[in-house]
Amino acid sequence: MPTTKWSKSSWRSFPALQQPVWPAGPALDESLKTLSQLPPLVFAGECQTLKSQLAEAVVGNAFVLQCGDCAEDFSRCTGPDIRELLKVILQMSVVVAYAGEKRVIKIGRMAGQYAKPRSSDTELVNGVEMPSYRGDMVNSPEPTLEARTPDPRRMLEGYYRAAATLNLVRSFTLGGYAALDRVQAWHRASLDALPAGQKYEDLVRQIWKTINFMTAIGLDPQHTPQLNQVTLYTSHEALLLDYEEALTRMDSTTGGWYDCSGHMLWIGDRTRQLEGAHIEFLRGVKNPLGMKIGPNYDLDNIKAIVERLNPDNEAGRLTLITRFGADKVANYLPKLLREISREGYRVVWSCDPMHGNTYQNEFGQKSRKFEDVLREIKTFWEIHKAEGTVAGGVHLELTGDHVTECTGGSRQLLDKHLHQNYQTNCDPRLNAEQSVELAFELAEMLHPCK
Ligand code: PEP
Ligand code: CO
Repeated sequence: MPTTKWSKSSWRSFPALQQPVWPAGPALDESLKTLSQLPPLVFAGECQTLKSQLAEAVVGNAFVLQCGDCAEDFSRCTGPDIRELLKVILQMSVVVAYAGEKRVIKIGRMAGQYAKPRSSDTELVNGVEMPSYRGDMVNSPEPTLEARTPDPRRMLEGYYRAAATLNLVRSFTLGGYAALDRVQAWHRASLDALPAGQKYEDLVRQIWKTINFMTAIGLDPQHTPQLNQVTLYTSHEALLLDYEEALTRMDSTTGGWYDCSGHMLWIGDRTRQLEGAHIEFLRGVKNPLGMKIGPNYDLDNIKAIVERLNPDNEAGRLTLITRFGADKVANYLPKLLREISREGYRVVWSCDPMHGNTYQNEFGQKSRKFEDVLREIKTFWEIHKAEGTVAGGVHLELTGDHVTECTGGSRQLLDKHLHQNYQTNCDPRLNAEQSVELAFELAEMLHPCK
């Protein structure tokens, strides 16, 4: 057990990896002071509700769909961009809920996903060494020394953009846009010619039949909140600890501390050291937490972290997000599942089929193959079935735009097509069509008859 008493700043006496080197000057303290006085973005009760829903995913009664950008981009904090992402999340969740007959917990990688871990602190661009891009909340991706110099005022900008994003998400999801009778409106014409588009049209017809049936027997879909409103929770990697600390507040009802920058926070594969600052910070906040686990894990170390983050073994507190890669998952997942189940730890198991399947193509672009993404998810499912454990959800990088960043899918994108609309500042994302196609695959895997 840690010997120190937790406080929202106790992480400062632990080694903190992946933090920017802020320039000297008053801007850091000024920004953090302002942030700590600004209102919280989410409130404790919402985090508690999410935690209790995640407890349902531990036992297989709900499915976690966590998805969004690899790195949100300040310039894409616009109405249309947010709407398109929301649309694809709504489409995917209706596919999984209806075709897969499973309750879906929707969590966006959004409204705060502005800080990124990097494999190197600096990079060489045209012979000039400069700080690596660390996400819009730290610096800017343009390859100039000025743009790459970390600027703490970007944390404030990130807060305001997260607030604006969340505001629009809340009004869309509560104000009628997410009502089930708009299921057709979330559709996009470009999907029509694809098999997933046909399947979606069939699903829309079936949903309409159900709504009409409900009306015919005297129920009133217009006044049924379950049909008119959805909840989309927010999440991001709690990487930039200065920012997370400034948004951490005490809940006046329970006296517990919550990191009110998002509903769920996760710890990346690079920053989950047992005696590191990230684990120290997150052990003390009561939000639901995620932790990424890649192939270089050590079983005893994982167990020690699980105990540290969830000493009371509270179901819903911890989601373990594995990201081994399609070729490695069969080798690395079973022993982890066995050990965690043997200890009786109650966790949600989620599959991130993105980060273990990245490759660099001949044109120097980072990409992922749709087929590998699907293969990792399918293997994850089969292994859980064989081990008698519960596959609880997926963690995906995707966008509502028509980007060309991942190959494959029914449009059969190849590496040579990716230049058509390659936009990401960070990792390659599934586009809207590939995402809906994946949702139908998920629905098939989840269906109770399977
Ligand atoms: C990410 O989710 O964008 C990420 C960096 O993942 P990981 O920590 O699993 O590498
Ligand atoms: Co990523």
